[in-house]
Amino acid sequence: MTVPTILFVCLGNICRSPLAEAALRHEAEQAGIRAMIDSAGTGGWHAGEPPDRRAIAEARRHGIDISGYRARQVTRDDFSRFGRIYALDRQNLADLRKLAPAGSPARLSLLMDVVPGCEGQAVDDPWYGEAQDFARCWEEVSAAARAIVAGLKV
Ligand code: 4NP
Repeated sequence: MTVPTILFVCLGNICRSPLAEAALRHEAEQAGIRAMIDSAGTGGWHAGEPPDRRAIAEARRHGIDISGYRARQVTRDDFSRFGRIYALDRQNLADLRKLAPAGSPARLSLLMDVVPGCEGQAVDDPWYGEAQDFARCWEEVSAAARAIVAGLKV
C-alpha cells in the first residue's frame, strides 16, 4: 500500500501552511491514517525559523505543539516527492505552477477547493492580522484537513 504524500504551501511557511500541516497530522492520526505530510513556503525569507508565535499559540489552543516545526522553501524535488500539493492562496498556486518541472506528476490545487461550498476561496494571510485571524485560519485549514482525510478513507 502506498502512503499518501501531501505538501501544503503558503508564502512564508510560518503561519498558514504549518497550521494546515498540523491540522492534517492531527486529523490523520485521529482517523488512524498513515500519510507523509509536510509544508513549505514559496519564499525563503523565514527558512530555518519556527512558526510565527501567533500560529504556535493557535495550535496550542487545540492541544497541538508546532514549536518544533522549521520553515523551508519549496523545491523542484517536492514535485516528485509529493503526490498532492495544496496552495493556500491563488498567488501561491500561480508560483507553484511556474516552479513545477515539466511533466511533474504532482497534482496542484487550491486547498479550499477540497471543502464543499468553499471552492476557489483563499486562506487569507494572517501575518498582518491578529489572534482572531489565526483562529479563522485554523478553522479553514481544519475543515480542509477533515475533507482530505475523508477522501483518503474511501
Ligand atoms: P504565511 O504568512 O505565508 O502564511 O507563512 C507570511 C509570513 C511571512 C511573510 C508573509 C506571509 N513575510 O512577508 O515575511
